[in-house]
Amino acid sequence: MNDALRMIVVGTGTMGRAWLEVLRADERWTLAALVDVAPDALNAAGEAFGVPEEQRYGSADAAFEQVTADAVLVVTPPEAHRVISIAALSRGLPVFSEKPLATNLSDGIAVLRAARQSGTLLMVSQSRRWMPHIVAMRDAVRNGRIGEPGYITCQFRVPFRFGGWRDSMPEVLIEDLAIHHFDTIRFIAGRNGQRVFAHSFRPAWSWFRGNSCASVNLQLTGDLPVNYFGSWVARGPRSSWDGELIVAGSEGALLLRDDESVWIFTGEDEIPRPLELPRLEPAGMARGLDIFTRALRGEAAPEPDGEDNIFSLALTSAAVASSRTGMTVDVDAHLRAAGWSPARLQPAWRSRPPAVRSG
Ligand SMILES: NC(=O)c1ccc[n+]([C@@H]2O[C@H](COP(=O)([O-])OP(=O)(O)OC[C@H]3O[C@@H](n4cnc5c(N)ncnc54)[C@H](O)[C@@H]3O)[C@@H](O)[C@H]2O)c1
Repeated sequence: MNDALRMIVVGTGTMGRAWLEVLRADERWTLAALVDVAPDALNAAGEAFGVPEEQRYGSADAAFEQVTADAVLVVTPPEAHRVISIAALSRGLPVFSEKPLATNLSDGIAVLRAARQSGTLLMVSQSRRWMPHIVAMRDAVRNGRIGEPGYITCQFRVPFRFGGWRDSMPEVLIEDLAIHHFDTIRFIAGRNGQRVFAHSFRPAWSWFRGNSCASVNLQLTGDLPVNYFGSWVARGPRSSWDGELIVAGSEGALLLRDDESVWIFTGEDEIPRPLELPRLEPAGMARGLDIFTRALRGEAAPEPDGEDNIFSLALTSAAVASSRTGMTVDVDAHLRAAGWSPARLQPAWRSRPPAVRSG
């Protein structure tokens, strides 16, 4: 399509290639450039996705300077997210960033500031939000199907060996994975975090160098308690990737156990019924790209934008701070200390969507 939007994909590793498949299947997009600091990964992706050598770059800055594009997909390890996203946003290039927005809260705030200052779209890939079972749970809570929520529990137990950069992350469970669980919980409950008390640790048999387990007590706004446990070096019974998630309310409860089907309990009944799921067309990562595309055209709100996602990053950051100090962390105070006003401002791009070029 000669009026297709042009994407620069930065990072062509596991997730970068998964995004390249999604882009290839979406006729609204074409590849403007591929970027990777590792020539082998860059060339392998270039060959696999038919991107000629002159459109392959070893640095994001070089690609941003030389290539005309409509957006940038940031799929590098988290350490590089801040620098690449700010470089793109400050040039007015809309950014679709893999989670986490940045490695720490102040860096995440710096990215958000760059988006605000340039009035440029910033959306984060918290991909669980694009799944039917998670949207079904959000809708059930929103529509009062379980009455007033009283507590949430989430238990994640999966042993997984990645190799690579995750092996040396000091807080790998909280910062690389629990950001998904915390974001999902915020999304379903429709609330932000108030207080966090956490203990992260590394069992003796852990193959990660950093803390691969965490026990976290969150309090969401309206004093809604959340009890979370996550282990990436699980022994014994395993959970699914979203964890075993229960939302209990005054009129019943919701249960997610297999990343697919949701069960609803009514009153004190012990026998659940399946909760009907919405038909999301498309679902998953293709839905993420579809939302980003429509947000770019000013037709839809991004899900989630940086303004929303900073509250999930604040939860992981507060959990790490709590675990290090042994103290309960107030989330608003934590955000303010990192330089952010917890008030959610109307993002500037909404009234000034980027122009969509053609040809
Ligand atoms: N949303 C999800 O469900 C999900 C799942 C997996 C990974 N992720 C996220 O995707 C991102 C990438 O993870 P991955 O598993 O693909 O990692 P990966 O290690 O497989 O790939 C990362 C690639 O980025 C390249 N890279 C590193 N620094 C760079 C830089 N400065 N400029 C350009 N390229 C650079 C590396 O050479 C590598 O090829 C991470 O942020 C991760 O958290 C998200």
